[in-house]
Amino acid sequence: MIYGIGTDICDVRRIRTSLERHGERFAQKVLADGELATWKARSERWPERGIRYLATRFSAKEAFSKAIGLGMRMPMTWKHCEVIKLPSGQPAIRLHGELKAWFEQKGLQAHLSVTDESDYAASFCVVETKTSP
Ligand SMILES: CC(C)(COP(=O)(O)OP(=O)(O)OC[C@H]1O[C@@H](n2cnc3c(N)ncnc32)[C@H](O)[C@@H]1OP(=O)(O)O)[C@@H](O)C(=O)NCCC(=O)NCCS
Repeated sequence: MIYGIGTDICDVRRIRTSLERHGERFAQKVLADGELATWKARSERWPERGIRYLATRFSAKEAFSKAIGLGMRMPMTWKHCEVIKLPSGQPAIRLHGELKAWFEQKGLQAHLSVTDESDYAASFCVVETKTSP
């Protein structure tokens, strides 16, 4: 059964501006530890890829926050919601800390899709209940 859906569109130019203004601190605020390592590797090789990576993570986390109905309110936090990549390339959500406990206690499962094109990154998230009520 569907628990919730969430969508978000992120202006890549805003992410670029925030990174220029706040530097790595901005990435540290938004990205989980595993994501931060990927972001650093991509940014070192090609800064634009780092910006796009950050923008898609930003939109995915906001879409997830809407799908669970909390928005950016506890236990939902940027860093406790990690976007990982499955071997097939498909993105997936890995949760940490209190958010993970909250999500598991409710028996939820998330499905995520992300995309980006020129100035925008967008995500769509579906959260379903694993067990029937
Ligand atoms: C959900 C949230 C992350 C989106 O913020 P944003 O990126 O600035 O705005 P977006 O345009 O992407 O999304 C806004 C839409 O999210 C939806 N939304 C808001 N809160 C939501 C929630 N708890 N669950 C699901 N969707 C929500 C609404 O439809 C809203 O559009 P509307 O205001 O026209 O009705 C943010 O609003 C949030 O964290 N809300 C929870 C905390 C809160 O409400 N704080 C302010 C009042 S105390």
